[in-house]
Amino acid sequence: MKTLTLGKTKLKVPVIGFGAWQAGGMGWGKDFTDNDIVEAIRYSIKNGANYIDTAEVYGMGHSEELVKKATEGMDRKDYIIATKVAPPHFRYGDVIKACEASLKRLGTDYIDLYQLHWPDNYVPLKETVSAMEKLADEGMVKYIGVCNYPAPLLKEILNYLKNHDLVSNQMRYNILQREVEEETYPFMKENKITMIAYSPIAKGLLTGKYSENHLPSDEIRSSDPLFRKENVKAISQLLKDMGEMADKYRTDMASIALAYLIKNGAMVIPGAKNSKQVESNLKAEKIELTSSDMEKLDRKIELNYF
Ligand SMILES: NC(=O)c1ccc[n+]([C@@H]2O[C@H](COP(=O)([O-])OP(=O)(O)OC[C@H]3O[C@@H](n4cnc5c(N)ncnc54)[C@H](OP(=O)(O)O)[C@@H]3O)[C@@H](O)[C@H]2O)c1
Repeated sequence: MKTLTLGKTKLKVPVIGFGAWQAGGMGWGKDFTDNDIVEAIRYSIKNGANYIDTAEVYGMGHSEELVKKATEGMDRKDYIIATKVAPPHFRYGDVIKACEASLKRLGTDYIDLYQLHWPDNYVPLKETVSAMEKLADEGMVKYIGVCNYPAPLLKEILNYLKNHDLVSNQMRYNILQREVEEETYPFMKENKITMIAYSPIAKGLLTGKYSENHLPSDEIRSSDPLFRKENVKAISQLLKDMGEMADKYRTDMASIALAYLIKNGAMVIPGAKNSKQVESNLKAEKIELTSSDMEKLDRKIELNYF
C-alpha cells in the first residue's frame, strides 16, 4: 500500500484508510451488521489499509468497540488507530477522561492519532489544546490532530502547542465539495499538516449507484442537501464521465473519486459497510490519473444547500 508521512512525524500512514462512522450502527441504514464491519476492518488491515478512523460519538462508543473486536489478537504495531474527542468533552479534565474511556473501548493503551472532532465556541481552545498535550506527554496519545478546523483556528492551535505538533486536519473533501482548496488546504500544506479527506466519495454519491429516482433513505443522507434531487441531477454529466473513466481503468467509480484526492496529496478514509466496499475502495491505490483526467474531474458544479 502506498503511504504518506503524517505531518512532520516519522509515521507512515496508508493513503487509504478505513472510515468507521458507519460502524457505529446509527443513521446509516440497516443493510449491514456488526459482523460485516468486523470483517471489513480485518480485510482492510490485512490488505494494507491499516489506518482506522473512529470517534467516541460514532454509535456512542459502539464503533470504537467494534475496532477492538476486529483487532483482537493482532499485533498492536500492525494497525493505526485514529479517534476523536467531541466538544462536550473539551474541558481539560473531560478530555483526559474521554481519552481514558476511548482507550478502554478500543482495548489499547495508546491512541496513534487523537483528534478534536470539530471546533467549539465555548471552551477556550487553549485549555483543550493543553489537555491534548498532557495526553501526548503521558504517552496515551502518540500524535495530536483536529477535524473541521479552518486556517485561522489551525494557526491559533499552532501558537498554543508547546511540546507537540499538530499533525493533521480531517476535512470534508471530495470532487464535489472542494471548499478546503481555497484557504485551509494551502495553509495545511505550508505547515506540513496532513489532509485527511472525509466523505471522499461524497457519502456514496460518487459511486454512481444513486440517481434522482434512487436515493438513499437513511437518516444521515436523507437530511443531507447534497442528496437533493436537483443536486443529483446537476452532477449527472460528471457521473457519466466518471463512469467512462472507471471503464477505461477497469475499475469502480468510487476508486476514481478516491484517486483524484490522492493525486491532490490527501489521505482518504472512505467509510465502508462491508469487505466488498473496502475491496472496491482499495483499487484506488493502483490508479494513476493523468492530468487530462484530473482536468475532466476538476469542473465546478453549483450545488444548492438551501
Ligand atoms: N471528522 C468528521 O467530522 C467526519 C465527518 C464525516 C465522516 N468522517 C469520517 O470519514 C469517513 C468517510 O466519510 P463518510 O462515511 O461520510 O462518506 P464516504 O466515505 O464518502 O461514503 C461512505 C458510504 O459510501 C458507500 N460506499 C463506500 N464505499 C463504496 C463502494 N466502494 N461502492 C459503493 N458504495 C460505497 C457506503 O454507503 P451505502 O452502501 O449505503 O451507499 C458508505 O456508507 C467516515 O466513516 C468517518 O470515519 C469524519
